[in-house]
Amino acid sequence: AKDPVRVLVTGAAGQIGYALVPMIARGIMLGPDQPVILHMLDIPPAVESLNGVKMELQDAAFPLLKGIVATTDVAEACKDVNIAVMVGGFPRKEGMERKDVMSKNVSIYKAQASALEQYAAKDVKVLVVANPANTNALILKEFAPSIPEKNITCLTRLDHNRALGQIAERLEVPVSSVKNVIIWGNHSSSQYPDVNHAVVEGPDGEKSVRSTVSDDAWLNGEFIKVVQQRGAAIIKARKLSSALSAASSACDHIRDWVLGTPEGTFVSMGVYSDGSYNTPPGIIFSYPVICKNGDWSIVQGLSIDEFSREKLVATAAELVEEKEVAYSCISE
Ligand code: NAI
Repeated sequence: AKDPVRVLVTGAAGQIGYALVPMIARGIMLGPDQPVILHMLDIPPAVESLNGVKMELQDAAFPLLKGIVATTDVAEACKDVNIAVMVGGFPRKEGMERKDVMSKNVSIYKAQASALEQYAAKDVKVLVVANPANTNALILKEFAPSIPEKNITCLTRLDHNRALGQIAERLEVPVSSVKNVIIWGNHSSSQYPDVNHAVVEGPDGEKSVRSTVSDDAWLNGEFIKVVQQRGAAIIKARKLSSALSAASSACDHIRDWVLGTPEGTFVSMGVYSDGSYNTPPGIIFSYPVICKNGDWSIVQGLSIDEFSREKLVATAAELVEEKEVAYSCISE
């Protein structure tokens, strides 16, 4: 039998946490033959609720779940973890300035970066979910210099999956027959959902999504807007932000990263920019990636038309600006 993998979920008493921990315990994230030990971190005001989640995990009798650490102590939470899913953060509240939210999250991610660096496994793989996801991941990277930068990522897979879902609905095909959409840039409404390389599997093989949809006005307008604004639409409908879809997409992100993407398929991940596609280096930017042997690499050589270029530039500019705001919070 395999040794258990230790998986940290921060903000585990929250909405996404509640949807995510049973998925991990069921093997959705790391596979049906991989035992896990769940580490759950939250803050003191949520401790009772956190213990309730722990009780439910025990009650569900998950065969793969070999242990549970539920704590408000960051060091204990990070001890020897192999995977860290960072869902905890400070939410934007009504009337708050963006900079104030940034400042709270910068201090949280700075502290948790140090704890991961000190206590986690040396090859820990980190996925930041909490918003602003790209910039929280960047702060984490800056303050955990001994963790390889390749091991620090943020979640844009939910946006990627949303784009697949919209295309599948439009074409009235199963979502599993659509692949290779791309989310470029920030996990925010400036993201660019790009269908120019996407394909749909049909009875006569693969065809491009653009030629199959054959409605450029929809693809260049409504489609992009729906994906960019989907988070807000969920909040409006549920009065709560996306949780089951965020949890499921976080599992997709880690599963593909650890176990590899299928041949011929790429997915979107927020990773530390190396300047690929003329994007600014030094930010966490979402790119198309393939994963193999536990490593991701950016898919190279895709054509970028003028329409796409403008959108890449805009989302990159927003990330550069977020980085400046975040850095101004550090120095304060
Ligand atoms: P939530 O408010 O239900 O849960 C957040 C939890 O984090 C709470 O239990 C809170 O006590 C905890 N927390 C706060 N500060 C913490 C700290 N310093 N250490 C550990 N835990 C801490 O929020 P929800 O709905 O679960 O969302 C979590 C985050 O994920 C939010 O920032 C949200 O904006 C983001 N999100 C990101 C998505 C993505 O695709 N990247 C999609 C959906 C949500």
